Amino acid sequence: MDQDTPVILVFDSGLGGTTILNHILARKISGPFIYVADNKFLPYGQQTKEFIQERVLEIFSKLNQKYAIKSAVLACNTVTAYVAEQLRGSYNFPIIGMEPGIKPAIKVSKNKNIGILATEGTIKSLRFTSLVDRFVSEEHNLIIIPGNGLVEEIENLPDSAEDLLNNLKPKIKQFEDAGIDVLVLGCTHYPIIIKQLKSLFSNTIEIIDTTEAVVNVLEKTLKVECFPNNQEVDVMVSDNSNSYYEKIRKAIQAASIKQIKFI
Ligand code: DGL
Repeated sequence: MDQDTPVILVFDSGLGGTTILNHILARKISGPFIYVADNKFLPYGQQTKEFIQERVLEIFSKLNQKYAIKSAVLACNTVTAYVAEQLRGSYNFPIIGMEPGIKPAIKVSKNKNIGILATEGTIKSLRFTSLVDRFVSEEHNLIIIPGNGLVEEIENLPDSAEDLLNNLKPKIKQFEDAGIDVLVLGCTHYPIIIKQLKSLFSNTIEIIDTTEAVVNVLEKTLKVECFPNNQEVDVMVSDNSNSYYEKIRKAIQAASIKQIKFI
């Protein structure tokens, strides 16, 4: 991608953001796109707020010098929780973030027992607690469980399939004991394991993931026309050991994917 071509940046710590990028591509929103995975410092959900802020601001500053970014999608709940406001204050292009779907969950839940699975970082963030304060009333029972270990296990599938199930089972048991009828996925990695999650619940529960909603915002922001439809994706990873680029490439459903050097 040359420096003057307007691009849409999609950013995550690893594979999670591909769930968002694939929706964007399926919607025929016109790119080109740069997918950036800061896998060297994954999982972001276990990093401190200060670390994530410094790291993401530095990456954005370098990317902004090199590319004509027309919009950025923070395809990561943890990054959105900690850095979205600072980024919006620093750049003129639209910055679209993720938010755990608490509002839709409240609408959908019949028994008002709502489960939330998110990274520890997201759960601890002010953005999350203020979301809860604003929308959750006394009649709701929120069961909030940090998904520690899940991101690493999702990244290492299929090798980590057994560890993943062993990690999920006690979490699901807690949700079931509390009688949830809705589960909010508060991390972009989790839609990757939606099948495993569904199979572990003994009752059918509604799963809320906000991918669709975020892509709607992007579509509106860019006032999308389907043509010209550019689906080129350049992928940048911060650590390419164990062929990480290949892993990302396989997860992205685009016609043309290229690796570019991390800034
Ligand atoms: N995918 C990111 C999110 O939505 C975080 C994953 C991580 O912990 O690195 O929060």
